[in-house]
Amino acid sequence: IERDYQSLSEWAANYVAQRINQFQPSSERPFVLGLPTGSSPLGMYKALIELNREGKVSFRNVVTFNMDEYVGLPESHPESYHSFMFNNFFNHIDIPKENIHILNGNASDLEAECGNYEKQIASYGGIDLFVGGIGPDGHIAFNEPGSSLTSRTRVKTLTTDTIVANSRFFDNDVDKVPKTALTVGVGTVMDAKEVLILCNGHNKARALHHAVEGSVTQMWTISALQMHRHGIIVCDEAATDEL
Ligand code: GLP
Repeated sequence: IERDYQSLSEWAANYVAQRINQFQPSSERPFVLGLPTGSSPLGMYKALIELNREGKVSFRNVVTFNMDEYVGLPESHPESYHSFMFNNFFNHIDIPKENIHILNGNASDLEAECGNYEKQIASYGGIDLFVGGIGPDGHIAFNEPGSSLTSRTRVKTLTTDTIVANSRFFDNDVDKVPKTALTVGVGTVMDAKEVLILCNGHNKARALHHAVEGSVTQMWTISALQMHRHGIIVCDEAATDEL
């Protein structure tokens, strides 16, 4: 538990940097990092950009896989997760562009796209550290309530709650929010060697309660983290209101 969003973000950025730095000297394979979008990781991305600028961490030997992407939104749309990741992170760090993997929500065969994503992750030997946020309903990536806890990358229909929550990025107009998305599964996240979840603000307090003190259930998909050997949640004080 960190005092506020700023210290949560710095804590997470230092943790990610430390993991990358610990890994590099001893291995030929790249460090494989899973990444989220959303407002929660923005502070961490800023802090990582700063650490990269100061030469305290390099992403040259890091391969990334993003959690999810909307279906049918052009990549160039300002609210696509492609745009989000390049604008807020990738354009500002030393990562080779070919190391970046983001699901293509405009692929002609979405199922094949999802299957290939899983194969690509496996070809790198799996994900070393998956960083994620959570929705107010406890979803991880776009694994909405009811998602199987062993699910893999696939197409998901978004719940009304998520469409309403995300409409703040689409002129508060729910009709502009895509209704489906591609997302890694809960099982995909759980296969990572380590999972780091960022959780801040009062509106995440219920989700944090279910994640930490509730039972493991597909209705709060983040609760699967209780079964992970190396699952960390870093939160601010506001998010602990229901603990
Ligand atoms: C979306 C994303 C999730 C993210 C969630 C919370 O639904 N698919 O990966 O965790 O939003 O977003 P925020 O961090 O903006 O609260």
